[in-house]
Amino acid sequence: MATRGDELRERLVRVEGRLREIAAEADAPLDRLAGETIAAGGKRLRPLLVLLAAGHGDDGGCAVADDAGLLRAAVAVELIHSATLVHDDVLDAAPLRRGVPTVWSVAGRQGATAAGDYLFARAFGELVANGRIDEVQVLSAASSALAEGELRQREDAYRTDVPIDRYLWRCELKTARLFEAACRLGALESGGPAEALGLFGRRIGLAFQLLDDVLDVCGPVERTGKPRGTDLLDGTVTLPFILARERDRSLLDVRPVTAAEAEEICDRIAATGALEAARERALAMVAQAKDGLPHADAALELVADNVVARYA
Ligand code: FPP
Ligand code: MG
Repeated sequence: MATRGDELRERLVRVEGRLREIAAEADAPLDRLAGETIAAGGKRLRPLLVLLAAGHGDDGGCAVADDAGLLRAAVAVELIHSATLVHDDVLDAAPLRRGVPTVWSVAGRQGATAAGDYLFARAFGELVANGRIDEVQVLSAASSALAEGELRQREDAYRTDVPIDRYLWRCELKTARLFEAACRLGALESGGPAEALGLFGRRIGLAFQLLDDVLDVCGPVERTGKPRGTDLLDGTVTLPFILARERDRSLLDVRPVTAAEAEEICDRIAATGALEAARERALAMVAQAKDGLPHADAALELVADNVVARYA
């Protein structure tokens, strides 16, 4: 008998296949640009959440027998995620993502904007085949939140007075809402508790972004695929920086312009203990997320733990 793990693996393989198919369906050169984006990989965390949120309890088995709609939802969420990263790299003029050259660096603004637009449009094209307005609304709300989150982040660039609550709100918009949408979609496809699972997704999404921001300061390039201090270089004010400035007021004046300066400031941030404090907050959010799960679910709990463990 196939286990829940076998079923999950098989579904993830089909999600991957469909992502590649969608990229290949574009006209040249978008097929290549979208294809390279998909092929660059990523953890596929959001599709995993869609699939897992469709299970009930830790006794194994997914509540969905016909999984075509579930897979479309998983594909749609990953397409939105990929689209936002392609656009984000345009805005950041980022040379590398996941250790490989970005679409922006290969194809310029126009190519990357079009590739992101294509992936974004195809996400809705995929999901709409489920014939469920509620699902389209969930994805649309998350995408709108992403756009607003990105804008608010730009507004806050280089500010020395960003309150922690504002930073957390930005993270919620920019990251947590798509995690929430992933869990909601899985729940909707399986008739599960959408509110509770959505809240779980939102909480681990927030923890994910917090830890991502910690990694920007301390993560080695081999693990992150990008140099340390990129947030500092583009003026993004993150929790480690906010906390470090509270502890070391000389950090209020810094504005690095070279990679070497950014690395040096990363070391000063780390020396304040701000990274541990930010990580503690993320761990607390993960614990809260697991506590709030409507049913014990070993797989979802493992994903939640991994959001934080990847930086241990
Ligand atoms: C990556 O985070 C970026 C995001 C999570 C959001 C990007 C959103 C947009 C560009 C606007 C919305 C776009 C669409 C298509 C709806 P990060 O910059 O913190 O991480 P990074 O270091 O990996 O770039
Ligand atoms: Mg970015």
